[in-house]
Amino acid sequence: MCGIFAYLNYLTPKTRTEVLDLLVGGLKRLEYRGYDSTGVAIDVYQGKDIELVKCVGRVKTLEDTLNEQYKDATNEEPIPTHCGIAHTRWATHGVPCERNSHPQRSDEDNSFVVVHNGIITNYKDVKTYLEKRGYSFESDTDTEIIAKLVHYLYQQHPQYSFREIVEQAVQQLEGAYALCFKSKYYPGECVATRRGSPLLVGIKTKTRLATDHIPILYGKDDKQSSLQDADNNSTTKEHRPHRLGRGDIPVIPRSESTSEFMPLEDKEVEYFFASDASAVIEHTNRVIYLEDDDVAAVKEGTLSIHRLKKCLDDPHAREITTLKVEIQQIMKGNYDYFMQKEIFEQPESVVNTMRGRVNFADKTIILGGIKEYIPEIKRCRRIMLIGCGTSYHSAVATRQLMEELTELPVMVELASDFLDRNTPIFRDDVCFFISQSGETADTLMALRYCKQRGSLIVGITNTVGSSICRESHCGVHINAGPEIGVASTKAYTSQFISLVMFGLVMSEDRKSMAQRRQEIILGLSNLDQQIRKVLQLDEKVKEIAKDLYQHKSLLIMGRGFNFATCLEGALKVKELTYMHSEGIMAGELKHGPLALVDDLMPVMMIVMRDPVYTKCMNALQQVVSRNGRPIIICEEGDQETQSYSSRSLEIPRTVDCLQGILTVIPMQLLSYHIAVLRGCDVDCPRNLAKSVTVE
Ligand code: AGP
Ligand code: GLU
Repeated sequence: MCGIFAYLNYLTPKTRTEVLDLLVGGLKRLEYRGYDSTGVAIDVYQGKDIELVKCVGRVKTLEDTLNEQYKDATNEEPIPTHCGIAHTRWATHGVPCERNSHPQRSDEDNSFVVVHNGIITNYKDVKTYLEKRGYSFESDTDTEIIAKLVHYLYQQHPQYSFREIVEQAVQQLEGAYALCFKSKYYPGECVATRRGSPLLVGIKTKTRLATDHIPILYGKDDKQSSLQDADNNSTTKEHRPHRLGRGDIPVIPRSESTSEFMPLEDKEVEYFFASDASAVIEHTNRVIYLEDDDVAAVKEGTLSIHRLKKCLDDPHAREITTLKVEIQQIMKGNYDYFMQKEIFEQPESVVNTMRGRVNFADKTIILGGIKEYIPEIKRCRRIMLIGCGTSYHSAVATRQLMEELTELPVMVELASDFLDRNTPIFRDDVCFFISQSGETADTLMALRYCKQRGSLIVGITNTVGSSICRESHCGVHINAGPEIGVASTKAYTSQFISLVMFGLVMSEDRKSMAQRRQEIILGLSNLDQQIRKVLQLDEKVKEIAKDLYQHKSLLIMGRGFNFATCLEGALKVKELTYMHSEGIMAGELKHGPLALVDDLMPVMMIVMRDPVYTKCMNALQQVVSRNGRPIIICEEGDQETQSYSSRSLEIPRTVDCLQGILTVIPMQLLSYHIAVLRGCDVDCPRNLAKSVTVE
């Protein structure tokens, strides 16, 4: 959810305007993640004070406010070293308002300020603890306790470094967070940490870095000191790791690692802390993805990464990765919206998903990321496909083919429901976690649940370096390119293809399936051309959108390989247009939904010439005989089916199991056009976020 962007320039002079431009620019890149308010913290009076500027609404509003506030700042002196932190908030605790926006502060002097992504689940306990010690709170957020806790610990241990204080504070937090701190007591320093929410550090230097790795420094004492210790200003008590609000109060020790690491050949350096790479890529392609519980600190231009405890398999260093993604890839190009661009990118994105994997000449498929695990997967007892929203729909879309090609039981699960049920999972299960962002909290929790129970974890993600990626045993990057519109489009078709490729790999030595495999591979080879053809329906779809956009509801019916298109189409309509929409399994029509049908209810029906054609035609007849006026999605040249309706969209024919890739595109276009006609915010629908990192 939401975004963090911080910028620290060390001995690289920048005016305040330049710093603000950078911060606002970073936030703009994170806008796609979804947010409701914004804010920045910068230095004033030569670093003696910190100023906060916060706004409800768009980053543009923040930009205008900053311009207005600092418009008289002419002839500004460049500041050699400065740390600014910025945030887009997606409210979880407290309504979106200026007071609840981040940065949150420790006191009226803004001694410590923090930006936070995620949720602190034990914030009430910490709040009570601090209230008892004289702190009063001004916001409704969970985040404010962090700023105040850091302040409290600083008061208790003024001799501690900034990093040490943060380390002490986060030991008391439960929940998910990415945090970035700034303090007037530690000018020119920045401390950041994460647990459960993504955070990376970008590094920009004039010359090459001396190393590709930043060593991790571990605390010498891996016990934890407590807030009680903080009260007593002592670290010599018995050390037991528990936290606030559980009877006697907890434990923490001061980390004793004091050596800092200087990886850079020269001193001038700029650091960027961000929730994802899109915010830093225009400045640098050198980044470190922080892991849970890493505490990254910049002091006197030096970056160090600390962890409180060393576990057995912990690495010695974090790698500096070189990002390959280009800025143009995340720009809107000639399109009005990212979503529109992403729909129209599908002829290329599906090819990118197959690139280097499907050899159309000799009809073979290699998935490098799971190759070594295939024998183990073939021995498994069942396959679980787990995801949320659109990612879940890609599982629904491919389940039938997966069962056919693997001859294994295949379960599809919504991650949240899967967890609610405490679903039994065994060592010989293979669990797929499908997630565009790779950060979805429900999916990640389900992954950890299955990992704990010993099953093999396969990640299907679009985001390299994401949590799901890192925590999987093996996986497939869908390679759809950055997806910025909150509504998932090209990721869906690429997830679909990735799962189909997996099915093909699993069946490669089955003679009885040779012909079926060939027909699917042939289908894959023609997909890009066929998608181009479907995209040519855009104008026609727009006309249909004009008929529909003032209605309150839209029913989308189909079955078999196209049922997932109904679910996905309805989700797109809901999230983008705020209209009610429902994907209906045509086989269920007479068990209830048929009662909704009359001459006013908008209905779309997908009727393809596949094994369930006759059954779909029955459903179509049932709808028509209730005076329903369905809009039909059917195969090119299928006059018979079209005779049941005055409005239809003809889709090229492909092999039955891939047809869903072609039928979903008109639904993506339709939801897009209805959203535009209804004046909705296409790329950032209300109440939604691109990356849902809270349960
Ligand atoms: C898609 O249009 C939705 N915005 C949403 O359902 C999304 O697919 C879901 O939140 C899962 O996200 P993920 O693929 O990043 O895990
Ligand atoms: N929980 C915090 C709040 O409501 C942070 C939300 C976010 O991730 O933006 O303020």
